[in-house]
Amino acid sequence: MKGDERIRLGVNIDHAATLRQARYKGYPRLRGEMVEPDPVALALEAERAGADGITVHPREDGRHIQQEDVLLLREVLQVPLNMEMACTREMLEFALKVRPRTVCLVPEKREEVTTEGGLDLLPQEDWIAEIVQRLFQEGIHASLFIDPERSQLEAANRIKATYVELHAGAFANAYYGPEGEGEAKRIETAAREARQLGLVVNLGHGINYTNIDRMRVVPGIHEMNIGHSILSRALMTGIREAVREMKARMNGELTA
Ligand code: PXP
Repeated sequence: MKGDERIRLGVNIDHAATLRQARYKGYPRLRGEMVEPDPVALALEAERAGADGITVHPREDGRHIQQEDVLLLREVLQVPLNMEMACTREMLEFALKVRPRTVCLVPEKREEVTTEGGLDLLPQEDWIAEIVQRLFQEGIHASLFIDPERSQLEAANRIKATYVELHAGAFANAYYGPEGEGEAKRIETAAREARQLGLVVNLGHGINYTNIDRMRVVPGIHEMNIGHSILSRALMTGIREAVREMKARMNGELTA
């Protein structure tokens, strides 16, 4: 990747589904007529506003985006669909049915509010390599959501994933304190090492309209996946404006 390329924005719309499920759990999809907010309609609006991709994470407990939403998104989106999923055989079968552009493998614990840490590749390297290979046979590129650590990058390389998504959560948590810059440097180091290994580097979790000013200058980031801050902002501005502003900030066209 050349250094002057724009960073792509993947908009994660799971939180819209969280809001819908708070009222309409168990209702069939009514295609936005009554059951709101409709994450598929929001995804289409985000696409119109310049989102380069849409990300969803159908979880084992079905707490937000539903499998039928994912299947519909796959039909209606023009931009690529990135599906996050747990490393299970059931989810692999679902991914082969959906055929998203990319699958991002993430850890999944029922008790967590959101994905709390990167995937530890080392204890399950063979199984993850099998999933990645199976996806690749079907033309689906795999991404691995990992902490910015050398041992994880080396494992991702052995597994032959196309992408890694570096977990920016520790950076986001530390951003307003004295550790923030150290965490940003950890991401920079990991992004450089990942690229040296031939991996394409994405970034996600906890990125907002403020800390983006630090993340956007990390060299060589292909794509950022952002959910919570964009959907929260959209409550005030609408999704189009929220997406436009984040894209402008990501690419240094709008700063504090
Ligand atoms: N990337 C991955 C792999 C995630 O699990 C999440 C959160 O679900 C995100 C990106 C988006 O994080 P946020 O909602 O904090 O922007």
